[in-house]
Amino acid sequence: MAEVTFAMVKSDPEVHTYILKAQEMLQAIGFTEHGLRHIGLVAHRATRIMEQLGLPDRRRELVGIAALLHDIGNVVNRSNHGQTSAILAHAILTRLGMPPGEIADVMAAIGNHEEQVGNPVNEIAACLILADKSDVHRSRVYKADLAAFDIHDRVNYAVTHSDLVALLPERVVRLALTVDTSLIAIMEYFEIFLVRMVMCRRAAQHLDCRFELVINDTRLL
Ligand SMILES: [Fe+2]
Ligand SMILES: [Fe+2]
Repeated sequence: MAEVTFAMVKSDPEVHTYILKAQEMLQAIGFTEHGLRHIGLVAHRATRIMEQLGLPDRRRELVGIAALLHDIGNVVNRSNHGQTSAILAHAILTRLGMPPGEIADVMAAIGNHEEQVGNPVNEIAACLILADKSDVHRSRVYKADLAAFDIHDRVNYAVTHSDLVALLPERVVRLALTVDTSLIAIMEYFEIFLVRMVMCRRAAQHLDCRFELVINDTRLL
């Protein structure tokens, strides 16, 4: 049986439709961007972290696939979308012919990416968590009217640059952000992202790394 690849999942019409539809659902309830930009960035970052840490090629492919599918459950409901995404991923990956052992690892990662219920249960989950939670950026905000921004919009809008890298031999995973402090106080970032940063720290620990948060060239964690 041929291996199911990132390219196969990415070009699958069902996957593509669910990503677009999930984005539509979230936009309808006023959430920040979760569409092709977010999915592509999470896949890129998760794969790169694995590569930088020297994890095996096939695990890299699987984290890319997990990233493509991690938010499709939003087509059903935002609430518990991690678990819904995992179940939808099961059907899609089974149809494509992925072996159950790989599907189990991908499902576990997807079902554990939400901060309310997630844990870095394997290295795919850990890299997916780091890549997903690090996507804070101006381009995720749809609203044009600054007066209508909620705190999530404001914080995302204030982040003009973000990057996530894993450094060896230091074994550090570093999230570096450039924040426009004329728009928000750094405290506001922590007000909404503290739980996410704690989750990133646990994910980095699972990869035997230390998590660092650098904002405007100052290390805060
Ligand atoms: Fe999600
Ligand atoms: Fe996401």
